[in-house]
Amino acid sequence: MDKVRAGIYGATGYTGYELATILSRHPQVKMMFATTKTYAGKSLRDIFPAAPDLPLTSPEEVDRGSVDIVFLCLPHAASAATAVTALEAGVKVIDLSADFRFENVAVYEEWYKVKHPAPYLLEEAVYGLTEFARDDLPGARLVANPGCYTTTILLALAPLMMAQAEIAGDIIVDAKSGVSGAGRTPKTNTLFVEVADNFSPYAVGRSHRHLPEMEQVIGWWHDQPPKLIFSPHLLPVPRGILANIYVNSSDTWSESDVRALYTSAYAGEQFVDVLPAGELATLAHVVHTNKCVMSLTFTGKTLIITSALDNLIKGAAGQAVQNMNVVIGLPEETGLF
Ligand SMILES: NC(=O)c1ccc[n+]([C@@H]2O[C@H](COP(=O)([O-])OP(=O)(O)OC[C@H]3O[C@@H](n4cnc5c(N)ncnc54)[C@H](OP(=O)(O)O)[C@@H]3O)[C@@H](O)[C@H]2O)c1
Repeated sequence: MDKVRAGIYGATGYTGYELATILSRHPQVKMMFATTKTYAGKSLRDIFPAAPDLPLTSPEEVDRGSVDIVFLCLPHAASAATAVTALEAGVKVIDLSADFRFENVAVYEEWYKVKHPAPYLLEEAVYGLTEFARDDLPGARLVANPGCYTTTILLALAPLMMAQAEIAGDIIVDAKSGVSGAGRTPKTNTLFVEVADNFSPYAVGRSHRHLPEMEQVIGWWHDQPPKLIFSPHLLPVPRGILANIYVNSSDTWSESDVRALYTSAYAGEQFVDVLPAGELATLAHVVHTNKCVMSLTFTGKTLIITSALDNLIKGAAGQAVQNMNVVIGLPEETGLF
């Protein structure tokens, strides 16, 4: 098989940098271009000292026909506009932004406060939560990579939701993310002095943009989808997400049944681990890996699922490469270990 020719739009951001690192080691990929609006003419290594020595080009100067696939590591709206031109050039697209994650354009426009540049593409886009998208990914032209919190929480809830588990009340998600989740563009609330020695909630309740994305997918899975209460926090570490998810039942959970459900759902999965009883998932299980690791704790009517992943890898660039591998027919783990 010839190598796949790949380009990255937005290579100088945190997800773009991770993607450039993974793709430059991928045995079946040839990197063709990496774009920036700010640093054209430099090498990615001038910005990240441990990065591959990739020349950076402005998006206007790339030869769109020189690639088979592009990864969009851009802010929302900029991504969709770039996707349109790539698809018109016959290039497959894996988009890491939120632009193609929603089936209903009104939901996207309400939560992202922009007019969608290409709503006609929403129906075609494959929602790339890889473990649950393998039937739809092969040959896809356009893949919407899920959000980082969303991946953490959906992988944790999928077995229960797909089994139509009876849930009492809302599911409460208490989640923490490292600061890279906010991207590399400087903002006051992610300055070292604001973050170090601090721990702060944000968008608590039902106001974070990943909430409608999570509820959309839960609605695909469960006939009577429960609502989520979602409280994200900024953790003073560079990377990693950990969520404690509280799921109530009207009856006492059967630990053996739920454990069996989870171990069978993820048996044979290379990138999702369910820890044995007595062990708890931590960031140390997952940072710098493409794994989501989860643990189950039973306290009568409340099941606590602890789920962790690296927001830049399994929550972004790693999952994007997993998706690319399935799209083009490579073994899913290629380039990811
Ligand atoms: N960070 C995460 O954990 C994470 C996880 C999952 C998904 N995502 C999503 O992935 C996308 C990238 O996130 P990130 O954290 O990597 O962002 P980031 O660190 O802020 O990087 C953004 C990149 O986009 C480029 N860019 C900014 N504005 C642009 C514009 N108007 N047109 C073209 N290029 C532009 C920047 O280029 P220059 O600065 O070089 O000019 C930079 O390369 C976002 O949509 C984000 O929501 C992020």
